[in-house]
Amino acid sequence: MITLSIIKADTGGFVGHTAVHPRLMAEARREIERAKSSGLLIDGHVDSCGDDISLIMTHTYGQEAGLIHSFAWDTFQATTHLAKELGLYGAGQDLLSDAFSGNLRGMGPGYAELEFEERPSEPVLCFLADKTEPGAWNLPLYKMFADPSNTAGLVIDEKMHAGFAFEVYDLREDRRIVFDCPADLYDMLMYIGAPSRYVIRGVRSKTLGTTAAATSTQRLSLIAGRYVGKDDPVLIVRCQSGLPAVGEALEPFAFAYSVAGCMRGSHHAPFMPVSVGQAHPSRFDGPPRVVALGFQIKDGRLLGPRDMFDDPAFDGARRQAVEVMDYLRRHGPFEPHRLPLEDLEYTTMTSLTARLAHRWTPITTEVATPVGG
Ligand code: 13P
Ligand code: 13P
Ligand code: MG
Ligand code: MG
Ligand code: MG
Ligand code: MG
Repeated sequence: MITLSIIKADTGGFVGHTAVHPRLMAEARREIERAKSSGLLIDGHVDSCGDDISLIMTHTYGQEAGLIHSFAWDTFQATTHLAKELGLYGAGQDLLSDAFSGNLRGMGPGYAELEFEERPSEPVLCFLADKTEPGAWNLPLYKMFADPSNTAGLVIDEKMHAGFAFEVYDLREDRRIVFDCPADLYDMLMYIGAPSRYVIRGVRSKTLGTTAAATSTQRLSLIAGRYVGKDDPVLIVRCQSGLPAVGEALEPFAFAYSVAGCMRGSHHAPFMPVSVGQAHPSRFDGPPRVVALGFQIKDGRLLGPRDMFDDPAFDGARRQAVEVMDYLRRHGPFEPHRLPLEDLEYTTMTSLTARLAHRWTPITTEVATPVGG
């Protein structure tokens, strides 16, 4: 068995929240090289989307392994140190705890991990996002693993026809459920259609009995109890041979669907699939970006990445994202561009409530000073 882990954090933005400074990338790459030489990792790759660094690692320690998580934590401490030196924006933004204890759960950095028996050919996609929340993966995971209009294999592949099991987290109540699809599909959609609360954690193949996909599910605001930046989640999808073909796993992103998280974590905006070179959300700190890194894994080694959205066939989605961004921006401070009150990451409502309390009067009584006399 090998484990593929993506562990990610924003440890400082360059400039503002748009990108990772090259010196932080170099630092993280040095750490990964060290961990490979020491034998901790079989292989490793460092990449970024927007201002978030992703450590993509293969090893034999399993999921939520202390050694792997503490290595990632130390690496993010090192890049934070450098970010402070350079005065980068939000240095150490996602490191919410002072001390590492056991694993990264509840500490800020996000992680998606899959443990599996490597097949003779093991194509894997690693999706990295910026300016959105983990529920952003709900729609594409539904399409990849449960929508026959997206994934032909659900209909025509013997090994996919029985469907997939989806593990869904309720992030508000800290509980989980498994939906058996297609039988439970309509039940599941009722929940995952509300992605700020219900988040797909993982998907398993019913026929193969193996893991097919895993997401990072941490919500920074629920950990910190305040706004500290957006979660900027990651997703791993294994492909082919009873799992979605690579093209079926990429297809949902040909539609620039709307996600929460742009500008101060508080706006809906279209999700734009881009090449790694274009993963720098500048306009209104957006539109939110997604990159897809393709690897073939052999004996635990990461052959790749291929920059999967570096394909003119996704130009249409990029154009659509620009159009939808124009449309939503024109709403200014109004919903549905601005998030509903309960989902706002930044809010003045608490102080407004206190300051204006004495000026609110029941509609049935006379207004003290009617506007316009
Ligand atoms: P190739 O013939 O190019 O290998 O394609 C096989 C396939 O099923 C792609 O979806
Ligand atoms: P990040 O989570 O990517 O740092 O974004 C924070 C933000 O508020 C951007 O407007
Ligand atoms: Mg940031
Ligand atoms: Mg970010
Ligand atoms: Mg963030
Ligand atoms: Mg072929």
